[in-house]
Amino acid sequence: MCGIVGYVGKELAAPILIESLKRLEYRGYDSAGITVLNESLETYKTVGKIADLELILPERIIAYTGIGHTRWATHGKPETKNAHPHMSSGISLVHNGIIENYLQLKERLIECGYVFESDTDTEVIAHLLNNKMYKGAKKLDLLTAVRETISELEGSYAIAVLCSDEPGCLVFARKDSPLVIGIGDDGYYAASDVTAFLKYTRKVIYVDDHEVGAIRPGSIEIFDPRGNLLAKEMHTVEWDLEAAEKAGYEHFMLKEIHEQPASIQNTFAGKLLELEGTVKMDELYLSPEQIKHLRRATIIACGTSWNAGALGKYLFEKLAGVHTDIETASEFRYASPVLCGEELTIAITQSGETADTLAAVRSSRSYGCRNIAITNVVGSTITRESDSVIYTRAGPEIGVAATKTFTAQLIILYMLAIHMGRVRGVLSAGEAKSLIVNIKRIPGQIQKILNRKESIRECAEQFADKRDYFFIGRYLNFPIALEGALKLKEISYIHAEGYAAGELKHGPLALLTEDTPVVAIATRGHTYDKMLSNIKEVKARNATVIAVANEDDTEIEKYVDVVLRIPPSHEMTSPVLSSVVLQLLAYYTALAKGCSIDKPRNLAKSVTVE
Ligand code: G6P
Repeated sequence: MCGIVGYVGKELAAPILIESLKRLEYRGYDSAGITVLNESLETYKTVGKIADLELILPERIIAYTGIGHTRWATHGKPETKNAHPHMSSGISLVHNGIIENYLQLKERLIECGYVFESDTDTEVIAHLLNNKMYKGAKKLDLLTAVRETISELEGSYAIAVLCSDEPGCLVFARKDSPLVIGIGDDGYYAASDVTAFLKYTRKVIYVDDHEVGAIRPGSIEIFDPRGNLLAKEMHTVEWDLEAAEKAGYEHFMLKEIHEQPASIQNTFAGKLLELEGTVKMDELYLSPEQIKHLRRATIIACGTSWNAGALGKYLFEKLAGVHTDIETASEFRYASPVLCGEELTIAITQSGETADTLAAVRSSRSYGCRNIAITNVVGSTITRESDSVIYTRAGPEIGVAATKTFTAQLIILYMLAIHMGRVRGVLSAGEAKSLIVNIKRIPGQIQKILNRKESIRECAEQFADKRDYFFIGRYLNFPIALEGALKLKEISYIHAEGYAAGELKHGPLALLTEDTPVVAIATRGHTYDKMLSNIKEVKARNATVIAVANEDDTEIEKYVDVVLRIPPSHEMTSPVLSSVVLQLLAYYTALAKGCSIDKPRNLAKSVTVE
């Protein structure tokens, strides 16, 4: 995730900016940069580590004002030209977030004569600011120009800006991206999170959405969107550094589970065209003709990404009428796949580096297949070996057990299926609109689950001593049952199996006793009644049933021991919500057992060996 920092004060800015950027390293990044302002702006940026940035800095930079950035690529590869700060003569800016309407703004600015040096969405803000300050009827000051500029931005941003005409001044603004100001004895700090400046001060002011402010030596002013000066409260941060990195959560996994409303929002930002009933998939290099004539798609993945792909198969078949196979990469690469040229493969890999997935894609490409990569890491190996790349914009995931990357993968698969379904004429505009509305509801629905997570915790604690667990589901909930079981075994070391509910009677029923919790995903949909029958089958063997069900379902509690609720939801999108419930169930089970949650034994985040 990108991180921004800023400083205005009595000390030399450069060493403080570097130290602050190092504190943000845990968020993950691929490039970094700073701008300092004395009489003019001096910018230094590079791909790589903060240590690489230090190597290109002059020994002593005399400047007391500056901004800095660690970049996690979203638009444009990790290259020096894409690293922040971004400039537009006399202006330098760092940004965390995504500007959704940057293409429209970019076209307009190019017409005005601006030359773009990067592939980023951020550079449009710098040029837009320059345009407001210097090209309008009257010259604007930086604060006014920032206020006018952000009124034209769609998307999310936390920005910090310097202008060579206003030495000693740093202007900031935020919407849907974090920004906090530190008040020190020697100066003021701005950052994406408090860890950046915790070494210097614990006194903070939290900037809220739509607020804009300016720091000058010895003063800070923050304004509401109408330009009224605000009297903001100052808080004292009690966290130590480690707790602050996790934003106060006990583990990265819990933090990442909580980030899902935002990571999902980022993943679909700018792509869901509700009015038209279509999805914008500019990254997809497949012509409408190629999509129309698609005979088959083969999804290739491992682990959690495979589970996402298993749901993708159902979506592509239902919404786009494309026959879809889901393949385990480590098997596919040594099997004898029957592929003819011009077929489509879709590789799902959060890291973009899984050795088996890469090898399977190379093998399919040797048959002439086109590959679409769905990944979370810009510039990863899979992106260089695919015809199209669609990014999940989940931000870096540090917990080994995948959570927010999984749900972001699901969102991409919904969007891809809707897009293909519309192009192929399988899905009507009305049906697509209804799905789009329901996808847009997911972040708010997840937030409701997170707000009531205590009931999931109680359930997890009640059964944390069990040796075996089963997870069952039908249709779209079957892959979610697989993922629920995988999450539980990965981090709590409890033996867990995911099963298609209809398959229980072909074996697993023999294993059920009163000591075996069975998690049944029984959300509303056309297989609901069948799930109830499966639940009764399980209860007849005295096993304990924990159901995941909709809030408005009053029937289910008659048959099961515990009900974990999700908000009322569409059958097609409820799997995303159920998966969040199961992530929390696994998390709290592992917590109750005292397991090493973020780094489970024997597992790695990215498996780059066979
Ligand atoms: C490892 C990780 C899993 C992940 C799998 C596939 O096993 O621990 O969380 O699902 O690799 O990784 P990928 O990066 O290809 O999605």
